[in-house]
Amino acid sequence: MIIDGKKFAQKLRNKIKKEIQSIKNKTQLTPGLTVILVGNHTPSEIYVRNKELSAKEVGISSKVLRFKSSISETKLISVIHKLNRDKKVHGILVQLPLPNHISGHKIIEEIDPKKDVDGFHAINVGNLSSGKDALVPCTPLGCYLMIKSVRKNLAGLNALIIGRSNLNGKPMAQLLLKEDCTVTIGHSKTKNLKELCKKADIVVAAVGRANLVKGDWVKKGAIVIDVGINRVEKKNGYKIVGDVEFKSVVKKAKAITPVPGGVGPVTIACLLSNTLKAFKNIN
Ligand code: GUN
Repeated sequence: MIIDGKKFAQKLRNKIKKEIQSIKNKTQLTPGLTVILVGNHTPSEIYVRNKELSAKEVGISSKVLRFKSSISETKLISVIHKLNRDKKVHGILVQLPLPNHISGHKIIEEIDPKKDVDGFHAINVGNLSSGKDALVPCTPLGCYLMIKSVRKNLAGLNALIIGRSNLNGKPMAQLLLKEDCTVTIGHSKTKNLKELCKKADIVVAAVGRANLVKGDWVKKGAIVIDVGINRVEKKNGYKIVGDVEFKSVVKKAKAITPVPGGVGPVTIACLLSNTLKAFKNIN
């Protein structure tokens, strides 16, 4: 089974759209999302554009604030504080990466945790780790929803997460621990990754190494989620491939996400879902 991320995301957006419509009818209020984009990092431009279009589609009032890469950290913090106070803004997202002279960690901690739709603020990270309600980072949330759509009860399954980032690997581990999986986090220094992978019922690959996970790494019937977005050269230009070698793994897996068209669209739908959640928590 190939999990179609575009269809999955569309379903999620339809559900969000309905709920927002009913909120608007009842309260005359509209959930609002503001994305801050600093500099002109091309992939970020593309992500932000997609986020904006998707937000509009479901009826979220979305705005992108663009700043030159020369903006100071202090100025950026004052922008965030203003958004924290703005009653029309329920979600704030600072697109990463930021220029070198600005500390991403510092900036994220300035966002009101209730409006932190990326789920990166220490309060949300802490709440997720201690099993409390939290805004959860969009990529692992999307992976989690796709895994759950294939199999409801994950208790006792071996899950291997490849990649230990704050954006994905670590929160992914928390989500799967909550489901009573036995979770292993592998990373660039892990020995015998292949052996660990062979034992996994669930594999989430998020290391940024093109086609790392091969067919002979994967247990028959495993659920394989590919978070990788890697540019590889081809004859005339380049193409995007994941961290999983699709053609060999698809023969072994019970379910697999393709790249592109897998995790990506669902991640954006989860941002909309987080914006709605933030709105409901605030109002
Ligand atoms: N850059 C790449 N992925 C992300 C993400 O999930 N959130 C933010 N804010 N920036 C990103």
